[in-house]
Amino acid sequence: MLQLSARADPAITLTRVARAFQSGGDEVVALADVSLTIAIGETTAITGPSGSGKTTLLNLVAGLDRPTSGTVIVLGQDLTSLKERDLTAFRAKSLGLVFQDPHLLPGLTALENVIAARLPWTKRQLLEPEARKLLKVVGLGSRMNHPPARLSGGERQRVGIARALLGQPRLLLADEPTGNLDIGSTEELLNLFEELRSDLGLTVVVATHDPAVAAIAHRVIRLSGGRIVEDRLQPSAERIEVRELE
Ligand SMILES: Nc1ncnc2c1ncn2[C@@H]1O[C@H](COP(=O)(O)OP(=O)(O)OP(=O)(O)O)[C@@H](O)[C@H]1O
Ligand SMILES: [Mg+2]
Repeated sequence: MLQLSARADPAITLTRVARAFQSGGDEVVALADVSLTIAIGETTAITGPSGSGKTTLLNLVAGLDRPTSGTVIVLGQDLTSLKERDLTAFRAKSLGLVFQDPHLLPGLTALENVIAARLPWTKRQLLEPEARKLLKVVGLGSRMNHPPARLSGGERQRVGIARALLGQPRLLLADEPTGNLDIGSTEELLNLFEELRSDLGLTVVVATHDPAVAAIAHRVIRLSGGRIVEDRLQPSAERIEVRELE
């Protein structure tokens, strides 16, 4: 089962984080001096115009990128001090990543897609029961043996979410997960995130342009030009229940 550390520990702490890119002799400051704390069990939406730094922020929290300065602490682990190999292990064990396009492998079924990324580390027989359970959780119990070509866009995205949840991550990071979905599928996906958050005690961070996604979040952090320009709690935040799971 999930092991959450002391409930007062935040899931994410960024301290004075900056990320600059060198681009054709120019320096692009994607994030400038961002400090923030996200609590365990919270759903946070990162919003802001295109180019404001949302993906850069998620990539730093996911340990897919390193800051130019500042520290990134995720689930009690200072990512800035980890070697690449340890970062990869940390990601595999603790994080679920969901992207705008789930990039499913076309020759595999939904079930096989959920399992595939973990096969180098774990035997298929051990992964399959959990993958089946997760596909049921995301509403695809009757679609497990379909290849991606026989799934809708929303169903493919849900396969990507089941894949992200395999191995019981404590933190789900999603970058524009509803970007390719219609309103109906977006709503279903949002309900699913909320169920997962409350049932599994997940912390969810979603980067989005979509007001519907931001509306279900407990907290909305708006970026502009790589800085936090707004950080507000929504009325639903009062309902957050931070639980410790055995
Ligand atoms: N690898 C890179 N090299 C150079 N510049 C980059 C790189 N990655 C991002 N940037 C720049 O950093 C800024 C922030 O980009 P980022 O992808 O974080 O924005 P975003 O808020 O996710 O935008 P969108 O809503 O379009 O996805 C942009 O100006 C972008 O051009
Ligand atoms: Mg982006």
